[in-house]
Amino acid sequence: MPDPTVEVTSFMSTSVRYERQGDVGVITVDNPPVNALSQHVRQGLLDCLAEGLADDEAKALVLVGAGRTFIAGADIREFGKPLAEPDLNGVISTYENATKPVVAAIHGTALGGGLEVALGCHYRVAVAQGKVGLPEVKLGILPGAGGTQRLPRVAGVEAAIDMITTGKFVPAGKALQLGIIDAVVDELIPGAVAFARKLVEDGAPLRRVRDMDEKVKAFDAAKLPEIRKQVVKAARGQMSPVGCFDAVAGAVTLPFDEGLKNEREIFGGLMASDQSKALRHIFFAEREALKIPDVPGDTPTLPIRQAAIIGAGTMGGGIAMNFANAGIPVKVLEMSADALERGLGIIRANYAATVSKGRLTQDAMDKRMGLIEGVLDYDALKDADIIIEAVFEEMDIKKKVFSTLDAVAKPGAVLASNTSTLDIDEIAATTSRPEFVIGTHFFSPANVMPLLELVRGAKTSYQVISTSMKLAKTIGKVPVLVGNCDGFVGNRMLEPYVQQGELMLVEGALPAQVDGVLQRWGLAMGPFTMGDMAGLDVSWRIRKRRAATRRNDLFWPTVSDQICEMGRFGQKTKAGYYLYEGGSRTPVTDPKIEQLIVEASKAAGVERREISEDEILKRSLYALINEGAKCLEEGMAIRASDIDVIYCFGYGFPAWRGGPMFQADLIGLDKVLADIKQFHADLDDRWKPAKLIETLVAEGKSFADYDRSR
Ligand code: CAA
Repeated sequence: MPDPTVEVTSFMSTSVRYERQGDVGVITVDNPPVNALSQHVRQGLLDCLAEGLADDEAKALVLVGAGRTFIAGADIREFGKPLAEPDLNGVISTYENATKPVVAAIHGTALGGGLEVALGCHYRVAVAQGKVGLPEVKLGILPGAGGTQRLPRVAGVEAAIDMITTGKFVPAGKALQLGIIDAVVDELIPGAVAFARKLVEDGAPLRRVRDMDEKVKAFDAAKLPEIRKQVVKAARGQMSPVGCFDAVAGAVTLPFDEGLKNEREIFGGLMASDQSKALRHIFFAEREALKIPDVPGDTPTLPIRQAAIIGAGTMGGGIAMNFANAGIPVKVLEMSADALERGLGIIRANYAATVSKGRLTQDAMDKRMGLIEGVLDYDALKDADIIIEAVFEEMDIKKKVFSTLDAVAKPGAVLASNTSTLDIDEIAATTSRPEFVIGTHFFSPANVMPLLELVRGAKTSYQVISTSMKLAKTIGKVPVLVGNCDGFVGNRMLEPYVQQGELMLVEGALPAQVDGVLQRWGLAMGPFTMGDMAGLDVSWRIRKRRAATRRNDLFWPTVSDQICEMGRFGQKTKAGYYLYEGGSRTPVTDPKIEQLIVEASKAAGVERREISEDEILKRSLYALINEGAKCLEEGMAIRASDIDVIYCFGYGFPAWRGGPMFQADLIGLDKVLADIKQFHADLDDRWKPAKLIETLVAEGKSFADYDRSR
């Protein structure tokens, strides 16, 4: 019997185990869900290696992951806390210095610290579906356990820079070509064990990647400054790609150990940065958004084997491509053969463009086109498991479509509306089955933009919510469930943001100035470039719809209406706030519009003034934050972090800024509130602070505290 008075200090990891298969020892990491390198795994890796080395029967060792994947990286939940021993660099060098050959056997994804561990092994094999990558850059850091030094030694410097500064995953076949792995095996463990046995038979050396410097020596270091320039340009203010580059450059210019030291120093700076905090926030926020508090995680979902889209316009076509890309057959309904052919032609042209860029094979394109069937009759939709309507954004038209759908769709089919603002309950009420109706708000271009705002109606069933969330993941989208209000969450917040831009024009700013400030801050584009891209007529129509109910005591700028009245709807008419000459998508300032803005100030009796960069940024960002807080207090968004996901994946908000609500916490909610109150006093009642912000500030809390308390 153990003596209960004796404290047990020795720790044997249960998440890594050692066993032998004949003359080969197998070390298995078993830390679900993704075998992350938590402290107990790092310790277990050392313990099991020691056991394998001490096992006289084992001539070689294989390292493998249990479950769905090899090691997917460091345990991100440990970031920001004091490092617990053993540190990963030490674990990796112990493997590298092992006195028996160690073979990493990769399936699923070997990512970050996981690939770094594999690079510490003497050899690497993978199954064909396996992937490798160093995605740390996406978390605002760099591969801090020798990845920036070892990857260029196996893959070459340029390939390593590409992989490490972008974080892209490389499939096994390509990894073999690059030299990252040594063989592709059919069966994971048997293949790796056979590979290890052959190494022993051949008397193969204990190959340490740190010593393999042919590829780094062959690289011309004079190319580095030019490549760095390109990395800085592509990073647009994000620090981690540049830090990643600088660390890899160290593999060229410094001996291995100094390169490691250089990597460590840059890593420390990046890890402590707000950018890394923001990116880690978004990583977890994206996953948190999948959890719906009142919908049990095990709610059964409906099978989606056949989809249908109504409308072959830009949105409909893009949505159909998502299904075809995921291998789900999809019918596209149009009212006339001409419109249908036009729509299918655009889809074909989109795929062909991807093929010509070398990102899709002709064969894959043909398969995808083969999954898309154009139809002209509602009757053809009767077998679809989900039907998504993507017709014109007018309530009456949508209602007609839904009552027709109610008549033709099979029982149990999900009926979805791709509306961007309209009332889902009103649409659902035209059917006899509102529990099957949900809003699926895709973002343009729908085949590219990752966000899918799912809009829950009052009667939408748990099953339809679960099915839609799961389907979104299947078709490669990032879903966020929101409530049913005008504009839902994303577009509702966009309205006051765009209004601030328009008001600032009348007060003294110009479109390029406002857009420039926000773009330099990191947004993909400012409000006016965005409006031109989305089509100014879209918001014009919405403004007209809302005109009757808007507040008369506020000043409403008319610049955008005037531009629309001139027939300038943005890129599609080659003119909007800016000019787009010769089919170019690059906005060019138009003196005519600047004149129109100056005239608008005069007409409003406003003396134009210099608007500072700080004011442009604050009025834009705080308008988002204040409306976001209102969405939260009304329960339209489940969490503040959901809003951040919406903005980062749907509106070009830089993920390294973490989203508007994360920014509010970073700045300090008390400071944000003070500025909002000042705007309220100086400008107008649009700036009435959201109650939730006042409550949180009074309680000394942040949006993150609010999320945690729910
Ligand atoms: N640490 C901690 N938790 C992690 C994790 C990690 N590295 N990777 C995934 N998880 C968690 C997720 O948060 C999620 O948790 P919940 O179920 O509680 O929400 C769960 O594991 C499953 O993850 P996914 O839903 O993302 O599963 P998936 O199958 O869709 O994708 C994956 C799997 C491709 C591995 C994806 O999770 C992923 O990309 N993970 C991050 C990989 C990464 O960035 N690795 C580098 C880490 S940094 C590093 O290694 C630094 C270094 O140099 C030492």
